[in-house]
Amino acid sequence: MVLILVLTGQARRMTNDGSAQTLLILGASGDLTARLLLPGLGALLAAGDAPPLTLLGAGTDEWDDEHWRQRVSDAFGEHRDAGQAARTLEATRYHSADVTKADDLRRLLSDVDGTLSIFFALPPAVTVKACEALVDVELPEGTRLVLEKPFGTSASSAASLNRLLTRIAPEEKIHRVDHFLGKSTVLNILGLRFANRIFEPLLSSEHVESVDIVFDEDLALEGRAGYYDKAGALADMIQSHLLQILALLTMEAPQSLDPQVFRDGTAEALRATRLWGGDPKESSLRARYTAGKLGDRQLPAYAEEKGVDPARETETLAELVLAVDTWRWAGVPFRLRSGKAVANSRKEAVITFKEPQRIPDGLHGPERPNRLRVGFGPDMLALDFTINGPGDPFELDPISLEADFGPGELPPYGEVLRGVFEDDPLLSVRGDTAEQCWRIVEPVTKAWHAGEVPIVEYPAGSDGPDGSLLTA
Ligand code: BG6
Repeated sequence: MVLILVLTGQARRMTNDGSAQTLLILGASGDLTARLLLPGLGALLAAGDAPPLTLLGAGTDEWDDEHWRQRVSDAFGEHRDAGQAARTLEATRYHSADVTKADDLRRLLSDVDGTLSIFFALPPAVTVKACEALVDVELPEGTRLVLEKPFGTSASSAASLNRLLTRIAPEEKIHRVDHFLGKSTVLNILGLRFANRIFEPLLSSEHVESVDIVFDEDLALEGRAGYYDKAGALADMIQSHLLQILALLTMEAPQSLDPQVFRDGTAEALRATRLWGGDPKESSLRARYTAGKLGDRQLPAYAEEKGVDPARETETLAELVLAVDTWRWAGVPFRLRSGKAVANSRKEAVITFKEPQRIPDGLHGPERPNRLRVGFGPDMLALDFTINGPGDPFELDPISLEADFGPGELPPYGEVLRGVFEDDPLLSVRGDTAEQCWRIVEPVTKAWHAGEVPIVEYPAGSDGPDGSLLTA
């Protein structure tokens, strides 16, 4: 039996001071800009929640302003005519530039109006070069740097990127974007845990058996080999997004949502996180899809996809089991998994509770553990428990209470950009945390590179490989 509740949201207040700002996108002709960044920006502008904004695009493609404006207009979609979006669109400009050259970067700055945010929508290696060039460029006071994942490729490279960035801007002006932090259901974890009396006291090793954080997608490579084949599922999803979810699920109650207080809390949880049992052979799994049918699409094997180097053995599905070594969570396994080309696109965090101490003799029927599930698409919350069902009063019946969160007011990139324009780093990953997230997965990446954990296969369109480490 399922009971469904529907929740309605309250819009957040705009808090920027209304003075002019400029968003300069480096890598403006790329896929990320068109697919995620500009649609998020369009929605934010249309909601009237951004400052008067000049949008500048810079990239290696030889585009003129008209070509760029069309690209922005397509990406703004239904928002293109709404007040602020229409004004930004009309005045937007594009510069063809080599953003790894200080002279080209200086030329771009002559077009800036008001506080500047520089968004690096670039491959990681180019981002580093652009930052090295920026060290020699005098930037306007208060310039913000906005960086995409992957932030480095290891704890030490993330640390050296952090050192480089602080030569350009102070930490509070550096926004390491994780768009999952802009997803309303991810943020709902905070409300669920800390604005209720009834869940939080149960969230500890005393009552929780295990936690699964799963993000399986029915998307496959989708033409992103240039990026994905060097990243793989572990870096693309687990090292970044899923560890942020883990931090929200395991942190202690923050005193407030002040960015420093809140990010201290998530950092503390991640500092306590390590590989379960310490042996990657036991606590990790890597797999890649072979040819198969996904819905009505026939997909080639990942290794046969255009731009993929099969010798890299890039995984399209990764699982790992982590321990959060705190008083509250010691002994509870956290299983994180993300995979591509999986039929059952399952996106949720599931908290599985321990069995009741004892069920009275005389009650009978199916027993299943209590579970609290937070869905990240569809955005929902469910609580599974057992009651005496209809009919025989001594027969047990499983029941689920479900609440439908509905989508957030803004898409995740809109939410994240709002934080940037308001100088609010709450939804950005702090430098030390970015390093911690690499530290957590490093024993696994090392073992995988050394071939200690063989890569297994699953057909595209299946539910993933045999031998999953998940419980729920
Ligand atoms: C991105 C990953 O960060 O997140 C993609 O690079 C993934 O591989 C995507 O598909 C999933 O998030 P969303 O919010 O787009 O479903």
